[in-house]
Amino acid sequence: MVDIGVLVSGGGTNLQSIIDAIESGRLDARIKVVISNRPGAYAIERARKAGLRVEVVTKEAHPVREDFDGKVVEVLKANGVELVVLAGFMRILTPVMLRAFPMRIMNIHPALLPSFPGLDVQKAALEYGVKFSGCTVHFVDEGVDTGPIIIQAVVPVLDDDTPDTLAKRILTEEHRIYPQAIQLFSEGRLEVRGRRVLVKEGTRPEGSLENPPVTLFDEGA
Ligand code: GRF
Repeated sequence: MVDIGVLVSGGGTNLQSIIDAIESGRLDARIKVVISNRPGAYAIERARKAGLRVEVVTKEAHPVREDFDGKVVEVLKANGVELVVLAGFMRILTPVMLRAFPMRIMNIHPALLPSFPGLDVQKAALEYGVKFSGCTVHFVDEGVDTGPIIIQAVVPVLDDDTPDTLAKRILTEEHRIYPQAIQLFSEGRLEVRGRRVLVKEGTRPEGSLENPPVTLFDEGA
C-alpha cells in the first residue's frame, strides 16, 4: 500500500485510470489528495466524483515558482503523501519539490524517452518519421523528462496517423502502464541504480516488434 498525491492540470484521464485501478483492486494505493494548478481542470470533476480531497494551488496566488512548490509540498505532507504522481501536470518542478520527495515523484510522458521530450511530442514523432512511439513513466529529476525510466509501452506509428490519432493510441497505453508503475512502487519492487530502475522479481519480456511487419522469415515463406 502506498499513499499518493496526484498533480493535474487538464482532462485527468490518467488520474481516472488510477482511480479505476484502485477501485477495482488492481492497484494497492490510496489517493490522499489531488492538486490542480488550474481551477477549471476537468480532472477536478473526476476527483470530486470519486470522493477525493481536492486542493487548487495557482500561480496567481504563488507567483514565485519556489513558493508555489513550497505550497504544494505543504499540502502533500499535510496529507501524508509518500509518492507524488504527476498526471498531466503542466509545470516544471523546482528543487523545492525534488528535495522534499527525492525519487518519490513519477511522471508520465507520451513518447519513448529520451526521444521527443517536452511538448507537442506526437507531432514531433510524426514529423521525424519514427515507426514506433509510445509512453514512458519515469522518476522526476532536475531535468525536463530526463529522470530514470520505470516502464515504457510501445505503439506503432501508422501511415495515416495524425497527431490526434497517435495521441489516442498512446493514451490507451498510458492508462495501462501508470497504474502498473505505481503498483511496482507500492510493492517495493523498484530499485534505482544510477539511471537504471530495476524491477525485483519481474517477468522477463520476450520477443520483438517491427513496423512495418517483417514477412520474409515467416513459416512457409
Ligand atoms: C498525457 O498525454 C500525459 O502523458 C501528458 O499529459 C497528458 C495528460 O492527459 N503528460 P490527462 O490529463 O491524464 O488526460
